Amino acid sequence: MSEVALESDRFFEHVPVMLQETVDVLVHKPDGVYIDATLGGAGHTLEIIKRLSADGVLYGIDQDREAIQAAKEAVGIEPRFHAVQGNFGYIDQLIPLELHGKVDGILFDLGVSTHQIKEPGRGFSFQEEGPLDMRMSADLTITAHSIVNEWNEEDLRQLFFSYGEERLSRLIAREVVAQRPLETTQDLRRVIQEVVKGPQTVKSVARIFQALRIEVNQELERLKMGLSAGAKVLAPEGRLVAISYHSLEDRIVKQFFKSGNHQGVIEKDFYGHALKPFEEVIRGVQLPTDEEIAQNSPSRSAKLRAVSYQPMEG
Ligand SMILES: C[S@@+](CC[C@H](N)C(=O)[O-])C[C@H]1O[C@@H](n2cnc3c(N)ncnc32)[C@H](O)[C@@H]1O
Repeated sequence: MSEVALESDRFFEHVPVMLQETVDVLVHKPDGVYIDATLGGAGHTLEIIKRLSADGVLYGIDQDREAIQAAKEAVGIEPRFHAVQGNFGYIDQLIPLELHGKVDGILFDLGVSTHQIKEPGRGFSFQEEGPLDMRMSADLTITAHSIVNEWNEEDLRQLFFSYGEERLSRLIAREVVAQRPLETTQDLRRVIQEVVKGPQTVKSVARIFQALRIEVNQELERLKMGLSAGAKVLAPEGRLVAISYHSLEDRIVKQFFKSGNHQGVIEKDFYGHALKPFEEVIRGVQLPTDEEIAQNSPSRSAKLRAVSYQPMEG
């Protein structure tokens, strides 16, 4: 087996989350234009392609070059599919200008893929020894290593508290600074374990790794940019569909879907009527079934939301 084939096989380790439910709400016109903004192992993309007619079009975006390569192989020769490497924060610039205002649906399946987590060399996993990297794209310049070794104690505390929602962030930040330099994922894990003892240890380790990953990849900022840029290219009735995996990203999605902006302010017209650009396609949030969670544990924290764009008159 060639190295490339091995690479794509490993990407297939990622089991797409809420696959049928997601594609059911996304693809409402078989001859439409769609964007899978988080291509990953092409799990959702393969299902989207199945639902398209001969005139349908799908753009698949990922910032990770390895994911793009694996997805291209998984999809094979398919004239309706176009893979694009880039950050979905710039989604409007990653698709041709003539498609602006014509996109019928965009999917954001947030976070990292199983492949990225399972590859020790990427540094996402606290289960394996690896470098403190955590970049989803080689284009990114800041690594977990530079944050852990160069930030001051107060900035680390703030990061662990805000993005990890970690109660013991002050003590962990102090210990990180005291034990520097830290080179690997297991160095960091040991430091956290020295501070947090007992059954809560693993949860704290996961929270600190999450905080670092969010910062390295600027995940919340890019999500806000991606939702705004995505909304700009939608056709009337076009859909934004998002699967989030933790409360920080879900809050951003929920607020944007409700108000059409990131301040969460619902604007009013002259007569006091609420001006909302989106209508819910799924009421509130849809969760995975118990059966799916039993078969695919990463789905346990998934929240699916979907809205359709209703241009305002005037
Ligand atoms: C959860 S995985 C998607 C899995 C995919 N839906 C599947 O079923 O195979 C998320 C993917 O989105 C990519 N990603 C995350 N943030 C991104 C961003 N801001 N821009 C582009 N790609 C991003 C990651 O590199 C990862 O491959």
